Amino acid sequence: MAERIAEEKINQIRQSVDIVEIISEYVQLKKQGRNYFGLCPFHGENSPSFSVSSDKQIYHCFGCGAGGNVFSFLMELEGISFLEAAIKLAEKANIDLQVNFSVNGKGKSVSPELQSMLDAHELLNKFYHHLLVNTKDGQHALEYLLKRGFSRESIDKFQIGYSLNSWDFVYKFLTKRDFSPELMEKAGLIIKRERDGTYFDRFRDRIMFPIFDRNGNTIAFSGRSLGAEEPKYLNSPETVIFNKSKILYNFHLAKPSIRKLQQAVLFEGFADVIAADRSGVENGIATMGTSLTDEHITLIRQNTQSITICFDSDKAGIEAAFRAGNMLIDAGCTIKVAMMSDGLDPDDYIKKNGHEKFRNEVIGASLTWMAFKFLYFRRGKNLQIEGDRLAYIETILKEISKLTKAVEKDHYLRQLASEFSISLDALQQQLKQIFFSEKRNSNGQNQPINKPSVMVKQVNKLKPAHYTAERRLIAHMLRNRDTAYKVQDLLQGNTFNLDEHQAIITYLIGFYEDHMNPDSSAFLTYIQDEKLRRIVADIEMMSVNDELSNQELTDYIKQVLNYQKLLKIKEKEVEQKEAERQSDFKKAAAIGIEIIQLRKSL
Ligand code: CTP
Ligand code: MN
Repeated sequence: MAERIAEEKINQIRQSVDIVEIISEYVQLKKQGRNYFGLCPFHGENSPSFSVSSDKQIYHCFGCGAGGNVFSFLMELEGISFLEAAIKLAEKANIDLQVNFSVNGKGKSVSPELQSMLDAHELLNKFYHHLLVNTKDGQHALEYLLKRGFSRESIDKFQIGYSLNSWDFVYKFLTKRDFSPELMEKAGLIIKRERDGTYFDRFRDRIMFPIFDRNGNTIAFSGRSLGAEEPKYLNSPETVIFNKSKILYNFHLAKPSIRKLQQAVLFEGFADVIAADRSGVENGIATMGTSLTDEHITLIRQNTQSITICFDSDKAGIEAAFRAGNMLIDAGCTIKVAMMSDGLDPDDYIKKNGHEKFRNEVIGASLTWMAFKFLYFRRGKNLQIEGDRLAYIETILKEISKLTKAVEKDHYLRQLASEFSISLDALQQQLKQIFFSEKRNSNGQNQPINKPSVMVKQVNKLKPAHYTAERRLIAHMLRNRDTAYKVQDLLQGNTFNLDEHQAIITYLIGFYEDHMNPDSSAFLTYIQDEKLRRIVADIEMMSVNDELSNQELTDYIKQVLNYQKLLKIKEKEVEQKEAERQSDFKKAAAIGIEIIQLRKSL
């Protein structure tokens, strides 16, 4: 897409949207002093390192270094281009960009092919739903759903439909409306016959569950057979618009509730999501029959860090819950696990025991992650037998040793002690041993992902004086145009020691040539280079005094220049040694004088 948006339009967009409002759609922000803080959506963390400045209209993460303005936030988070971010923001601000490319639901610009695929899905979704709820052809399917406990309300809410028992209904339906068969094949809606190149419908005589992306566009279908026909669920294949490892069923509807409750419930199947929704659990999501991926986790984490896993309570479900739970824990989430009796799945449980019991005795009585592990490791063991019992205690102690909170450690140790009538002392002793042997074994490779936040903070503290001086100078230059020119003069043709810092001030002086006033957010768009942008966002977030005294200014400049002199001195010292080695004492003495002069000027 070669379209460009005029500079004034970009400025108009920037001035009309509020970064705090936009970021709040993805991150829970709390005001603290002048800025807002929250958990960084770009890396896993437990304590907020992500800050947003309303005054400057920029964001920065002290943990991972992410930073920029409202455009770069959307670009990075949604993986979209500058243009797409601009379109999306313009739409929010009701600004007409007068650009002529198609834009889907939430302002993401798409190619005509993609748009056609989305249109076909949208159209079919409506049609399938109509067949199910209004026609004789769909009556048996509707009866099947109602018998299974689906309500008319949830059939509408989830736009459930029915595909006719026909080999070419969809093919004809789409081609009659000028959709290209090749494209519809790519979209996974029809299949090409090898032998003669003709097409047939993928979904026939199935209950149709539309799959939506996070903006509510229909991007795929899953069709459930009505009888014992295999496969039970037939899904759209992976296409350019449907990527299973990124999609969570019901995410677009559940999002507001997930954010409000600060809790998501993760199910295994979408029949469960829909049944739970009828029980009033509206924050339910599910993967598309695959295991959880890092991309799914990122999407969830942008909305909450607290997740209840509610998988089938059979062996496979418990194993899957253990795997998913560990992945989520590693990403810094808080996990609970909801279990059902008799190996039921949530949908069956609700059918058998009703909505209220599901809410109170399943979701409401979820186990903590540790309590779930107590159960998990117990399976298949006979704790009456000493060997099994000791192995179990050892495993649990290892898990307890991983806990970070002393109170929690103590709680579970006591639980273990009382259950097996072992003295607390003995358990504590063994816990210490485990702790030290784990410490010896760990080579520091398996850092949890929330580590960098601490590391970066520590590294910054150890920076040399000239580094800090340069950053402080840039901070003032960003805030005041006159200061920028003054620093430029005082440097007398010398540059900052760090290349990135020098690049930033070069950009900044360029920016001030046609901007009379500082503008943090506009400057970030001006820079474009992502690495520099992050550094600028970092510096913008530094707290410096409003006024820069002359004393302070000359001190900083001195530190910048001194470092260059120190480097020069080191260089000269090497030269001097070399001269001495060659017995050129006259030269060595001359260099010595230069060194003394340089030292004096420090
Ligand atoms: N699944 C699938 N293909 C299959 C079977 C299952 O993609 N052949 C996926 C579906 O996403 C389904 C999930 O795995 O929602 C869970 O499967 P399962 O527990 O077998 O289905 P239920 O949710 O119990 O569905 P139903 O109650 O309709 O049997
Ligand atoms: Mn089921």
